[in-house]
Amino acid sequence: MMNIYVKVGIAIAIAFSLGSQVMAAEGGNPKKGKHLYKKECKACHSANSEGKELTPMTKTMSQWDRFFTRDMHKAKPAVFEALSEKDLKDIQQFLYDHAADSDQPATCG
Ligand code: HEC
Repeated sequence: MMNIYVKVGIAIAIAFSLGSQVMAAEGGNPKKGKHLYKKECKACHSANSEGKELTPMTKTMSQWDRFFTRDMHKAKPAVFEALSEKDLKDIQQFLYDHAADSDQPATCG
């Protein structure tokens, strides 16, 4: 028989693993995301830097969602590992809101 602590522990573990999978672009703070994007991403993603030049318009809304939920910056996993889930969600929201097929596509940021 499993004791109550084991059951509660399993329930929490399941809740956490579900929570991190369902990370569609909603509920993030795009203003904070824009600030974080400039701070955390632009250094490597501007002209003449290590990564390709990137703007929100580089991808479509669904491509950004896929990037943040599946790819997770596999070219350099340490980049995403260094950021909190909340910060990543905010950055995802900013990029999604201004994606190529969004209402307000943006090359700035
Ligand atoms: C330490 C440098 C560095 C930082 C910081 C960094 N990246 Fe990257 N990123 C790279 C490199 C290198 C690649 C692989 C080469 C490429 O595709 O540009 C890459 C690849 C990517 C790609 C794939 C490009 C494509 O066309 O599919 C995306 C999207 C991306 N990064 C987004 C981000 C975001 C968003 C951030 C901020 C959270 C970020 N990167 C921060 C270096 C960095």
